[in-house]
Amino acid sequence: MPFYHRLGEIPRVKHTTFYQPDGKTLYREELVTSKGFSGTYSILYHHFLPTAVKSVKELRVKDNHAWPEAPALYYHCYTDLSKKTGDFISAREDFLVNSTCKISCARVTENTDTFYRNGGGSEYIFIHQGTGTLYSPFGQNNFGPGDQIVVPRATTYQMKFDDLTRNKLMIIESDSAFEIPGHYKNEYGQLLEHAPYSERVFRAPAYLEPNTAKGDFRIIVKMKDRFFEHIVPHHPFGVVGWDGYLYPFTFNIKDYHPKVGRIHLPPPVHLLYKTSTFVVCNFVPRLFDFHENAIPAPYFHSNIDSDEVLYYVEGDFMSRKGVKEGSITLHPGGMPHGPQPGKTEASIGARATEEYAVMIDTYEALRPTLAVKETIDKDYAKSWL
Ligand SMILES: [Fe+2]
Repeated sequence: MPFYHRLGEIPRVKHTTFYQPDGKTLYREELVTSKGFSGTYSILYHHFLPTAVKSVKELRVKDNHAWPEAPALYYHCYTDLSKKTGDFISAREDFLVNSTCKISCARVTENTDTFYRNGGGSEYIFIHQGTGTLYSPFGQNNFGPGDQIVVPRATTYQMKFDDLTRNKLMIIESDSAFEIPGHYKNEYGQLLEHAPYSERVFRAPAYLEPNTAKGDFRIIVKMKDRFFEHIVPHHPFGVVGWDGYLYPFTFNIKDYHPKVGRIHLPPPVHLLYKTSTFVVCNFVPRLFDFHENAIPAPYFHSNIDSDEVLYYVEGDFMSRKGVKEGSITLHPGGMPHGPQPGKTEASIGARATEEYAVMIDTYEALRPTLAVKETIDKDYAKSWL
């Protein structure tokens, strides 16, 4: 996150003595830094040692549902057909994976007191349905439909939902950070006037009273495809204050300001975040191209270096037939794709679209999992006939 934020109490000068109210016990300073010491960082002040762990054990988790014989095809699956439920950790089901990116969905039906830390990647959490709060040592991020929360790698967090009847998340894990593209910023890091968003619509964590409870607290630590249970002797959110540029932040898809052109503009104009190996875009309601003979639907294209994934959120998607809220489509990089029969003609003269969707373009091919096989639209691959 390119914006400085601070909460709670911190010493005026970093790396100096900072005592608890008893006047003799030090708060424990922790520097959380990215890209070695060259990326964004924050400094947190803990009541207890952030390194204290009472026990560690590896958890046996079902394999990653690999579907090695998945054919080279166009895919469409209805993620809402998945039966899997659970809490914000256990409900996750992987749909598309490669070595640096994992796209999963979660229908959350339980709250849990367990904490979660992804030590192997940053997470982007799209709140499709549901409201609640994400708690971390940095504070609390309230969330609701359309919110996109970025949780930096190695952040211990917990999500609590207000109502357990209708919660749906789409989660992208990345082994590199989700970042605002450089061309949206000026040389001082401020968002430029032509960026699709401004600083004021990003939501940093709100203050959370430090929790100094002692006892046994369970954290599930994910390290790539291995899971561990850490029992720690104090509440993980015993932080009296922090400052810096690295923290969970929220941006709502409805705050994304789209660009429109006289003729069709390609997906990079919808860019939200980039990582080292893929990009995330927001498709939102917008006016269509205004040339008198414009074809608003996209042309057929072969994006030879990228797999293209769309997660459909809301509204009618102008170039696709049969997709529903919660659908995922995958168009592999080695194959051409484009509007289905009739969609190109239908788009001519149309003035606007009301669609909401999240697009993920990865530079490495994605592998569909058995969850795709189980929820697949079998007719999709032949829907251009
Ligand atoms: Fe495409």
